[in-house]
Amino acid sequence: MSNLKNKSLITTQEWSKDEIDTVLKKAFELKRNFKKGDYKSIELLPGYTLIMIFFSPSTRTRNSFEVGMTQLGGHAIFIDANKSWLGRKSESIKDTVKVLSRYGDVISIRIFPNITNWKYGASNQVVREFVKYSDAPVINMEDDLYHPCQALADIMTIKEKFNNIKNKKFVLSWAYHPFPLPLSVPNSTVLIMTRFGLDVTLAHPPGYELDQKIIEQAKENAENSGGSFEIKHSIKEAYQDADIIYVKSWCSLKYYGKPKEEKKFRLPYRGIWICNDELMELTNKNSIFMHCMPIRRNIVATDSVCDGKHSVIYDQAENRLHVQKGLLVSILKS
Ligand code: CP
Repeated sequence: MSNLKNKSLITTQEWSKDEIDTVLKKAFELKRNFKKGDYKSIELLPGYTLIMIFFSPSTRTRNSFEVGMTQLGGHAIFIDANKSWLGRKSESIKDTVKVLSRYGDVISIRIFPNITNWKYGASNQVVREFVKYSDAPVINMEDDLYHPCQALADIMTIKEKFNNIKNKKFVLSWAYHPFPLPLSVPNSTVLIMTRFGLDVTLAHPPGYELDQKIIEQAKENAENSGGSFEIKHSIKEAYQDADIIYVKSWCSLKYYGKPKEEKKFRLPYRGIWICNDELMELTNKNSIFMHCMPIRRNIVATDSVCDGKHSVIYDQAENRLHVQKGLLVSILKS
């Protein structure tokens, strides 16, 4: 098991497999204890403070981190970036982070691509600036490229649902959505699933390719883990015999930062690139349906899929809590 003391998390891709496994092991242990009604975890981080800066909205990330710190005996502070001098462009990243890391034991940030004018990678650069200036570890709560805490919760959920995850067929399927969404979840998903030896199929219509760098990393991960990686443009072919269907919408890099133009391009896929019962029928009997949430019901996936026998979306959301507790303990107490 790795020593993760004071280690920042920008993307799981920059952590070793052993470091990721260390967090997952701690997360499973904390979840088991919590389910048994054992509240001893309040002794793990007494007096510790997590400072969370949100430039972008959240339901799961904010609340799972806040509740997680409470359950560990610590405290989480929510900062609406628009109410801070940094968000109002009246203070530098350096000064903000230098000061906040004198107060908090860990700093976290969420910053979506619209905040940095859809300049590809610019939000991730802000997170990297936080890491550069912080005296405390930094957690990326989602930028324009990565959502590592979601990826950790996702792999935890898959490990819970299958005895052996190696070479399980994992499909990340694009879905129509009325607005262009960040690439952080799809990037993080293909990167982590290929690390863990799954047979990953990335399914999307032409024009929704991920960044070539991510594709190359996913291929290399698959080679190293004994998994595989392929891209399909046929939704039916992709779903065939799948063990895990992960549905997510993301924006087109071809029209990055041009929502009006992309809208026209995307519209023909409405009602076609949607997860429904007919598609789920093509998957294996014990397959699971995943989505990071929030989900646009009956646009991204039908009610019958979201609420159906394959769906694990609420377990997946719950695991954000457990895996982030594992992460916090690992980076603060190792
Ligand atoms: N999945 C996720 O990050 O949810 P929130 O946007 O609600 O935090």
